[in-house]
Amino acid sequence: MRRLKKLYEGKAKIVYETEDPNKVILFFKDTASAFDGVKRAEIKGKGEINNTISSILFEILERKGVRTHYVEKVSEREMLVWRAERFPVEVVVRNLAAGSIVKRIGIEEGTEFKRPLVEFFMKNDQLHDPMVCEDHIVLLGLAPEEAIPIMKETALKVNEILRDVFSKAGIKLVDFKLEFGRLPDGSVGVVDEITPDSMRLWDERTGEKLDKDRFRFDLGDLLEGYRKVLEGLQSP
Ligand code: TMP
Ligand code: ASP
Repeated sequence: MRRLKKLYEGKAKIVYETEDPNKVILFFKDTASAFDGVKRAEIKGKGEINNTISSILFEILERKGVRTHYVEKVSEREMLVWRAERFPVEVVVRNLAAGSIVKRIGIEEGTEFKRPLVEFFMKNDQLHDPMVCEDHIVLLGLAPEEAIPIMKETALKVNEILRDVFSKAGIKLVDFKLEFGRLPDGSVGVVDEITPDSMRLWDERTGEKLDKDRFRFDLGDLLEGYRKVLEGLQSP
């Protein structure tokens, strides 16, 4: 499938039309961005590795019956996906405390939650992605009401699946962010990407951070961490 007109360019990806009106191509850029785009860098090879990791994870989820926009990986940096009407909501699942929740509620980094915690954020860089509750989502029209339990249940199912996948690779799934949208067949599914840009992954043995926190807080070479994640996913 060839890419045609550019439809949208985000911080980490570009969306292109294809000959099929129901499918688009996601092109993974080499740009790393953090803090709503305030910190940016070009990291050669990031696009390719993120496309590969995201494709592997979407394939696993699809095999386990999770509805997603994934169709296939079409080249090193391109993924073919179902065209979706994306809800401006970020769904975050947390197994351990890290990142924004540490500051927001004063909990120590690394504290394990008794059960996975689900949070919703409004996708809006100008407002710095504020946290929202289910009523905000409905009353502000961010997503249809019937999509809320689907997003929550799907996010928890994805957590179960990915926690298991990463645990087999000796990696702790600390937290991650998913986005959802309405797919061409009318169902609500997971869209966007699932990469170390949108997850926190810690080496179980050493505690080393293997995700985008390396870039956010200058903890070390970004791709070295991402490569360890990919190797973990590829080892039998
Ligand atoms: P947070 O701790 O900053 O709220 O992030 C929770 C998870 O969501 C973490 O795995 C990183 C991911 N994330 C994104 O994918 N995009 C974002 O814009 C932010 C703020 C976090
Ligand atoms: N994704 C956001 C950005 O690119 C924030 C972050 O991940 O830290 O700016």
